[in-house]
This record gives sequence, structure tokens and C-alpha cells, in this order.
Amino acid sequence: MSKDYVAIIDVKDHVGQEVTIGAWVANKSGKGKLAFLQLRDGTAFFQAVAFKPNFIETFGEEEGVAKFDTIKRLSQETSVLVTGIVKEDERSKFGYELDVTDLQVVGESVDYPITPKEHGTDFLMDHRHLWLRSRRQMAIMQIRNAIIYATYEFFDQNGFIKFDSPILSGNAAENTTELFETDYFGHPAFLSQSGQLYLEAGVMALGRVFDFGPVFRAEKSKTRRHLTEFWMMDAEYAFMSHEQSLDLQEAYVKALIQGVLDRAPQALEILERDVEALKRYIDQPFKRVSYDDAITLLQEHEADEDTDYDHLEHGDDFGSPHETWISNYFGVPTFVVNYPASFKAFYMKPVPGNPDRVLCADLLAPEGYGEIIGGSVREDDYQKLYDKIVEEGLNPDDYAFYLDLRKYGSVPHAGFGLGLERMVTFVAGTKHIREAIPFPRMLHRLKP
Ligand code: 4AD
Ligand code: MG
Repeated sequence: MSKDYVAIIDVKDHVGQEVTIGAWVANKSGKGKLAFLQLRDGTAFFQAVAFKPNFIETFGEEEGVAKFDTIKRLSQETSVLVTGIVKEDERSKFGYELDVTDLQVVGESVDYPITPKEHGTDFLMDHRHLWLRSRRQMAIMQIRNAIIYATYEFFDQNGFIKFDSPILSGNAAENTTELFETDYFGHPAFLSQSGQLYLEAGVMALGRVFDFGPVFRAEKSKTRRHLTEFWMMDAEYAFMSHEQSLDLQEAYVKALIQGVLDRAPQALEILERDVEALKRYIDQPFKRVSYDDAITLLQEHEADEDTDYDHLEHGDDFGSPHETWISNYFGVPTFVVNYPASFKAFYMKPVPGNPDRVLCADLLAPEGYGEIIGGSVREDDYQKLYDKIVEEGLNPDDYAFYLDLRKYGSVPHAGFGLGLERMVTFVAGTKHIREAIPFPRMLHRLKP
């Protein structure tokens, strides 16, 4: 066998040559003197074909037959070193095939639990460490990777500095969600729910910053949109109006979709994602609607035959049926702006002349994927922020550093947070958020 291994993605550079590929057997079929192996090495899937007479010719009757029988008996997920000649093959999707000349088993795989038949969700979740090897799961991880890559690219191109916020914190960033508490040398500490408050300090030093990392919310909600540990990208910027902030968010989300179209087209194909819809979200402007107009619209349509949501009054929060209806009504990602202050976080700046509403926006993805971004203009006045903290029953001492930012050259600033797994779910077109992260953490799921 030749010494260097060739990745499947690179076989195109070796047409007509003999190469050795390290891979796993994803599937196998055969007839008589032929064996077909579906190989997988993480970079791509690829078919290798073994022909019995070739083995007999190379290795002689006894050894040739034995080698061919080994190939025929290979079980799913056995790891192998396959040597063969790379051939162009127009019939296969991949475009290339391997004519096997030799094969060596690296690691046996006995009774691999995940077979091509259908499995229940609990079973798959219990075997998440193995489920990740399947075609769909690999495709979702490629999409996740493309979104991460596009995030760094977008913010770099727009003059942002990556500014890492801490995960252990002495205060709550979002007073509207639940905290995970842990012991910090005899004092309570909390796992970060969002890096936002620290980014606001960063913005006063660097102008435009973003962070991107895991955040934690002790949410007991068991929905297809909630994780207890998920990745958030928070961005923050000084001297930017509410409208400019929405423009930036729109450009960012479009860059993410474009990034996936560019970097993971095969993944979208495997997942049978409606690519035309994704292109439409890039080409068309996102919709912007005020919270109050959205409530009025919902009220006007609540008796329609095809609607199925509860009646809401002005001042009520949306449930997911309302969010789904709103974004489907407009057919493109939709910003709902200026929600009631009553159910939003303490740091949001009120709408001038309307203190019951705040300068914020949630971006709702179409097709029922729900909220993917939450953002706002921040209260930049020391006294107003102080009063709001007290009014919400929070302790100003816990927010001393945050209040300080309003004492020394406070400026208008805004920011937003995008939930990575929500975005992955939306772009991949998958049903449940649990598939958008390698090892999901949910209400009843901490293993594997
Ligand atoms: O709307 P949220 O709570 O906003 C914030 O945390 C702000 N501090 C962000 C900021 O302004 N810098 O969360 C932001 C996004 C949501 O829009 C949603 O996409 C996602 O985080 N998210 C969740 N994703 C998965 N599971 C959960 N439990 C989530 N909660 C929020
Ligand atoms: Mg939110």
C-alpha cells in the first residue's frame, strides 16, 4: 500500500492513479463477483467497487478469494484503508469512483446500532455520538460551520473586533430568563446568558465589537426551539441608530445565508432545503413592522379560516403560533420592533414620547422558525438606567460596572444577539433545534 492517505474530497486530483483512502464503510451492496462500498471520511461520500477476478489475478486464487470475501462481509462503520485506482464516473453524483485493488481493515464494527432503517428520536439522541456520522447530521454540521465562518468574515469586513465576554458572571444579563447558578468559592456565580453587558464596556473602548460563544439558560421549556446551552453571537456598536442597527442585522443574516449557499451547497442538497426560498430571502428586503401593528394585524385575521392562534390584546406577548403567523404573512424574515417595555429586559431604551414601548427588535424567520435575533438600543442615561434597575427589583451594586459606562462619556449605542442553533435550524430547514448542535443540552438531556 502507498504511504500517504488521500482524502475523498481530493481524489479528483488523482484520476488514473492508485491511492489509499482511510474511511468508514457507510453502506455496502453487491452481486456475485462485485462488491460496492459506500465510503465516508467526513470530507465526502464515495463509492468503491471491488471485482473478484481482479483480486484473484493480483493475489492468486486462495488469497484473492479470501480478500474479496473480507470485503463482502464488511459491516457498517468498519474503518478501512482502501487502495485503488481513481476513475471518473459520470453516472455517480460525486463524479468519481474507486476501482479497489486492496483493502485492509483498521477497526472492526460489530452490530452498529444505527442502521439505515428508521429509529425513534430518543434512541437517536441516546446515540448522538454515533448519529453524528449520518449523512443528514453531517450536512447540518457543515451548515453550522459555514454560518460560523461567515460570521467572522462579516464582522471583520465591517470593522468589528472579536471581544470575548466571560462565561462566569456575578450578575444576570437578561432579567427575563432563568439563570444557572454555581458556587464560586463560597459566593454565587451565574453562567452567562449573553455577553451583552460586557460588550457594552467593549464598545466604549473599541467602537464595534462582537462575541461568539456558549450561553446558558435554565429554561424549563420543552420546545423544538429551546436549548439550555446554546451559542450566541452578540454584536454591539457605538453611535448607531435603531434603523442603522436593523440594516446591519439584515445585512448580517443575508451574509450568513449567502455563506451557506457558497460554502455548503451539497449540505443543502442532502437536506432537500428549498434553496430558491433562501435566495429570495437574500434578494428581497426584510419586512419591518411595529409590535402594535402586528397585534392589530393578528386581531384582524384571528377569525380567518386558516389561522390557529389565541386572541391577543395590545400589551400581550406573542406565543410561537403568533410569531409563525406574522412571518408567514410577510413571507420574508420580519423585524417586529418596539415591543412593550413590560416584558423586555431592563437595559432597553424607551421609544421617545412613548415610555411603554422600547427601541428593540426581534427578527422572526419565515416558515415557522421563530425568533432568530433579539436586539435593542441601550439606555445610555445613568439616572434612567439606575431607576429602571431598582424598579425591576435588581440590585444596582450588581450592575456597578454597567452603570459606570453611563458615567464616563456615555454614548448612544445598540446591539443584538443571534442564536446560532436557531439560525442553523432555519437555514438547514430541519424541524428541531436539537440537531443544530453536536451535543444538545435540554431539559431532560445531559448525556451523551
Ligand atoms: O433575545 P435574547 O434573549 O437576547 C439577548 O440575550 C440579548 N442580550 C442579545 C443582545 O442584544 N446582545 O436572545 C438572543 C437570541 C434569540 O433571538 C434566539 O435566537 C436565541 O438567542 N435564543 C435561544 N436559542 C436556543 N435556545 C434558547 N433557549 C434560546 N433563547 C434565546
Ligand atoms: Mg428574545
